[in-house]
Amino acid sequence: MKFIIRYGLAALLMAVAMVLLIPPFAASLIEQWSKSDVESRSVLAFNTALDELTGLLDEHDAKKIVALFERMALDEQLLAVGFCDRNGVLVYKTKEMPKSFVCKAPTANGTPQFSTLHLGRRSLMVSSFPVITPNERGQMVLLHDLAVVAQRGAEARLWTIAVLVGVVFVAAAFAGLVTILLARRWLQSMRRAIDDVRLGGSGAVAATEATPFAGEFRRLLRDLQMSQLPAEGPDVEWSPAMLRSVLARKLPGAEVIVVSNREPYIHNRDGGEIVLQIPASGLVAAIEPIMRACGGTWIAHGSGSADAETVDRCDRIRVPPSQPSYTLRRVWLTEGEQNGYYYGLANEGLWPLCHMAFVRPNFRDSDWSQYKLVNARFAQAVVDEAKRSDPIILVQDYHFALLPAMLRKKLPNATIITFWHIPWPNPEIFGICPWKEEIIAGLLGSSVIGFHTRFHCNNFLDTVDRFMEARTDREHSLISFGSHDTLVRPYPISIEWPPAAMAAQKPVAECRSLVRKRFGLADQVRLGVGIERFDYTKGILDRLRAIDALLSRCPEWKDKFVFVQVAAPTRSKLAAYTGLQQEAAELAREINARHGSKTYQPIFLIVRHYEPHEIFELFRAADLCIVSSLHDGMNLVAKEFVAARDDEEGVLLLSNFAGASRELSEALIVNPYDVHSVSVAIEEALLMPRAEQRERMRLMREIVRLRNVYRWAGQILLDAADLRKRRRILQLMSREQSAVNAPLVNRA
Ligand code: F6P
Repeated sequence: MKFIIRYGLAALLMAVAMVLLIPPFAASLIEQWSKSDVESRSVLAFNTALDELTGLLDEHDAKKIVALFERMALDEQLLAVGFCDRNGVLVYKTKEMPKSFVCKAPTANGTPQFSTLHLGRRSLMVSSFPVITPNERGQMVLLHDLAVVAQRGAEARLWTIAVLVGVVFVAAAFAGLVTILLARRWLQSMRRAIDDVRLGGSGAVAATEATPFAGEFRRLLRDLQMSQLPAEGPDVEWSPAMLRSVLARKLPGAEVIVVSNREPYIHNRDGGEIVLQIPASGLVAAIEPIMRACGGTWIAHGSGSADAETVDRCDRIRVPPSQPSYTLRRVWLTEGEQNGYYYGLANEGLWPLCHMAFVRPNFRDSDWSQYKLVNARFAQAVVDEAKRSDPIILVQDYHFALLPAMLRKKLPNATIITFWHIPWPNPEIFGICPWKEEIIAGLLGSSVIGFHTRFHCNNFLDTVDRFMEARTDREHSLISFGSHDTLVRPYPISIEWPPAAMAAQKPVAECRSLVRKRFGLADQVRLGVGIERFDYTKGILDRLRAIDALLSRCPEWKDKFVFVQVAAPTRSKLAAYTGLQQEAAELAREINARHGSKTYQPIFLIVRHYEPHEIFELFRAADLCIVSSLHDGMNLVAKEFVAARDDEEGVLLLSNFAGASRELSEALIVNPYDVHSVSVAIEEALLMPRAEQRERMRLMREIVRLRNVYRWAGQILLDAADLRKRRRILQLMSREQSAVNAPLVNRA
């Protein structure tokens, strides 16, 4: 309403200003034009009479001259005509010539002159024209009444006012009509938005909404609704709006900074073009929706070949490109830094150490030096990006074990939350690491350390107990190291619900027939899928062996069952990864040779990066999905498969050694090391009645829906908020204590 009043008043002021300014301007224009019209008339009258006047002047015929002048003065606007001689004496004149009229001296160059003579309220234009004859040298003067000029000006003013008032009136009426129509439509759409929110709508209405504000309004309403709901408890429905509301309520004005090695958007140069890639990373899949919901800054390694071309001079770029909502700050690493920090210590040392996938970890001094150096560089980047002294810093993964302690020194008031996305082994295994104390001390700079499972939290507490001079409080899962406390908590990570990639998916039946056509399969062929990074922890070889065992044990499945394995190449510089790729390709060839025929290929091994929409299409086309990780912190592929199946069909085979198996217990839980039992589980999945599939899938979908990634982030932020509150109380108490002690000290 205020908006309408403000703009209405502005429009009214503009209309008044127009009415005040335009008519005088128009009147003066018309007056000027009329004056020049009178001038032209004088010139015309003079030119017409000149010849006759010259002759009469030579004859000195006063009577005829006056008669000529009287004839000229018959023109209603011409009041009087006269002739001034060379001495400036008015020698001939018509009767109406004003008595006060005095001849003016002629101009030096003999040009006509025009001036105004005021007689009381009357204004006259005096036009003087030089007249030269052999005997005479004088000026003919013509006096025009300017009343007509004033009259035309007044008329012009009146008409302009009338036209302007008319225009303003019509425009106001039109604007009023349009406003009423728009307001009606706006109200209708707002009403629909309110209904949609009240009924817990999915936002489908937003897509068909005509007004541009309806979506925004719905978001605000939802935020408002969320801000009135409790944020804790098992029945809380977590969504981007809920997360925003938790941030606003519990951590008002908080600045969120994420640090990870992998960036959420990679720009690569492909020939002349820059191509955008979303990396195959569980971390990115989980954190990206959080950043989209909350905003902030994400600091990560700029690894794309066109990354440097797409940032500003501070190495920043707003993302997602389609709808920017947070800042990506890229950090550049040299090849040596990447080799030592990423390939070396992180992926040849900590990765196999924590995964216990029977690949020997390698620890090299040179890698450790690079790891320390790169951690320090990221610490500086965080300090550069932080706008406040107490940001919330979300440190991601095993690439940055030293970062929390470095940040604690630089930003002592920051809330540092570290999430370890991979398993944490027991103290015996972790004890292999030559720099175990430094790594643990680095992590203990965090306010909170999160793992996917309670089991990994316990392993961490045991490791701290074993190697550090620290106090571990098992009851509260709290570690006191130096003067600092760190909370150790399980936060099972998840995916957004519903996943963004689902928005553009075709119905399941269509996905099935599209994918079958793509692989040249008959409609009735049963399809199994596996999709992940080409990593030895994922158990891809074991999975292929299980399929081999199935086809050997139950040959009746030949021609009837096909397995599509999509593996995105990763860390290909490392021998363990190139070795795995070769071994898997060799194994797939062998199995295909053993069980295949001219018309049947049991295994399709596709080695390339799949975009999210392709992954979801494949999931929707499948009868079963195998996640056979030898060891995995959580595994989000399992959750994505469940989220993709809105038809509630399809069977998930899930490794007992993936964190996801703690939550998705309705999957067929398998031991990937036991090839025979996995082959039995595949058969069980192929034979599972649809009703049972639906029963299991429904339960799993409910879990993934409720325990989505917003809940994961929300719970971490709620714990962070509690910690901040507690720290503030402690600071207050210690300030009060010093105030109480001060007089005693002074007295002493
Ligand atoms: O599982 C931990 C994790 O950091 C995931 O987030 C991600 O899938 C992977 O490891 C990292 O892969 P990359 O080395 O390609 O970033």
